Amino acid sequence: MPLKTRVLGDSFACEVVGLHLWETQDDRIIKELRALWVLHPVLVFRRQALSENELADFSARFGPLERTVRSDWASPARPEVTLISNLKDAQGRPIGGLGDGEIQWHSDQSYMMQPATGAMLCAVELPPEGGTTSWVDLGAAYDGLSARLQRVVEDRYAIFSYAKRLAGYQGVDRVISADAQRKTPSVLHLLVHTHPVHGKKSLYLDSTTTIGVDGMDQDSGKALLEELYEAATRPQFVYRHDWQIGDAVLWDNGLTMHRREPFDPEARRLMKRTTMLLPRDRHIVPDGRLAAAYPSDQPRSTIRASVNAMRQQPQAASPALAPVRSPLTAKPARR
Ligand code: OGA
Ligand code: MN
Repeated sequence: MPLKTRVLGDSFACEVVGLHLWETQDDRIIKELRALWVLHPVLVFRRQALSENELADFSARFGPLERTVRSDWASPARPEVTLISNLKDAQGRPIGGLGDGEIQWHSDQSYMMQPATGAMLCAVELPPEGGTTSWVDLGAAYDGLSARLQRVVEDRYAIFSYAKRLAGYQGVDRVISADAQRKTPSVLHLLVHTHPVHGKKSLYLDSTTTIGVDGMDQDSGKALLEELYEAATRPQFVYRHDWQIGDAVLWDNGLTMHRREPFDPEARRLMKRTTMLLPRDRHIVPDGRLAAAYPSDQPRSTIRASVNAMRQQPQAASPALAPVRSPLTAKPARR
């Protein structure tokens, strides 16, 4: 029986109705979901109440799970699951990342040389208002560019800097380990990619992370990026998701950006996220290179060696786990 689906609004997002993601899905269902995901880079599943293991196991059907450099945001119980929350533990330490502030248009993991572009986010606790998440379709955005802009961005690389992204974070989210620093030199990614399945072109962008365009002076590069962000985030390309507890959203960061609206710091919000390394024969997966300028004084060869080591062990064990923290007892962050 084919999947029961419902396009959301007039958008590129699609709801999949009636699956119980806590149960192991047949290969046939996964195959249908993979095909649907190519057409709809945002898939919504409602009324799911997934344990961390169920979330991780379902996500892993689409590609190997990544342990991100933010081991400080990893769930102690299942480190491939990242906690996105403003809650703090009994010692006042955040249990996860991204606090309560606005998060501008971005693409997860874009600062990595070979980003894990698949992502799934589940709503466990939600504030009474705010904290809404929107996605933008960068395939449609590419089609909507002027012929001039399409020519300008063709074969161009943007410079992605994790240091820039960190500067936009609140509080302790800005602090990363020496190991995380070593793994995040600035990288170059093509601004335009061609989808391996249907051959359509798409932009690859991240306004929180790009600092310029390779081969252009700073002012011209920034001006081009601004023009692109303005053109790419027009309302007709956006799907805005009103979260309900139990919602699970699966999206492709190779074809979209997303943003989050801020919410009351006194309210509680707990989301759980996985990121997956997707196969290149079915998804746009940027294959980056080191940028010539990077926020580190390490010699290029050292960075190259550490990046190569990481490529060979995409699932290397993360450093020591954080002390056990229970999201159920955690309190909203106070700032
Ligand atoms: C993320 C993210 C937005 C949100 O987890 O990558 O951007 O709504 N989350 O929490
Ligand atoms: Mn994100």
